[in-house]
Amino acid sequence: MTHTITLLPGDGIGPEVTAAVVQVLEAAGLSATWESFEAGANAVAAHGTTLPEPLLASIRKTRCALKGPITTPIGEGFTSVNVGLRKALELYANLRPVWNLPNVKSRYEGVDLVIVRENTEDLYAGLEHTVIPGVVESLKIITDAASTRIARFAFEHARRQKRKRVTAVHKANIMKLSDGLFIECARRVAKDFPEVQYDERIVDAACMQLVMFPEKFDVLLLPNLYGDIVSDLCAGLVGGLGVVPAANLGADGVGVFEAVHGSAPDIAGKNIANPLALLLSGVLMLRHLDEDAAADRVMRGVTTVLAGATRTRDIGGTASTSEFADAICRAMEADGR
Ligand code: NAI
Repeated sequence: MTHTITLLPGDGIGPEVTAAVVQVLEAAGLSATWESFEAGANAVAAHGTTLPEPLLASIRKTRCALKGPITTPIGEGFTSVNVGLRKALELYANLRPVWNLPNVKSRYEGVDLVIVRENTEDLYAGLEHTVIPGVVESLKIITDAASTRIARFAFEHARRQKRKRVTAVHKANIMKLSDGLFIECARRVAKDFPEVQYDERIVDAACMQLVMFPEKFDVLLLPNLYGDIVSDLCAGLVGGLGVVPAANLGADGVGVFEAVHGSAPDIAGKNIANPLALLLSGVLMLRHLDEDAAADRVMRGVTTVLAGATRTRDIGGTASTSEFADAICRAMEADGR
């Protein structure tokens, strides 16, 4: 089957890593028609906005997008395209599987966990105001509806992936109402999934345990802000942002698949960026599209290449972006499955 997929190459290293990923996914057997769009600063000249309506219309139609990183200029007045996309498409769940890749240097072994982060509210609502000069207020919004929806997402993911436990991460000992509501919703949803264990950790203790015994965690369910912080902490457990994929998922099966790293302006245009994080996000996309055979093919190709010396410099090699992608394609071809 041929899929229609929205493509946002992004900027900085985005176009380089996106081209490499499209090459590998197609070599793995994905048949796709790509609808490509600019976003961010590159879109402003042509459309007067960072998130052009035709781009949003395309994702609403295709329900699937592969997205390269997009620069958010600091202090130039436009908000992050990533946050804008999440809001416009109601991508309420951020999913980040974190696991050790073979031969990628990290401090730990045996890490295999999944972060499920609520994407729409909490302190990210950005509701801040000055009460009187010298006193500001930032509103933490937690609702029953959004907390229940993300808890259900986490448990359904655990059930589908045959994972054993969901751990809700919170600070309800201090924020008794807001985080209290978050875990109340998680507890309620947990009752519908008797085959999945449920437990809770206070966020500071969870961070300590994650850096001491990361292999003990399975699915982590977090409100937006803790999710933001803990997901980068977890990326650090397995080698950093260059090797961790992410998906933003919404109602009606809309999925935007992206790397968690940024546009890396310091190395842009040099053909040295690591395409692995976006490629692993591409694997999540293949599974979302029920293209499991192609997803398995990519993972075998990646595993074979990482067992050898061909790798980009951020993970200890000398290969260029395109050499690394070519090597994965050759490994998949040699595999023949
Ligand atoms: P960054 O992730 O772009 O770069 C941090 C460091 O990691 C740099 O030294 C960079 O060279 C390296 N790096 C990142 N990705 C790499 C890759 N694939 N291969 C090899 N090295 C890699 O973070 P930074 O510098 O804080 O942000 C740069 C821009 O990206 C900012 O405008 C930021 O807003 C934006 N950004 C966009 C994101 C997105 O579109 N999802 C996510 C994070 C940041």
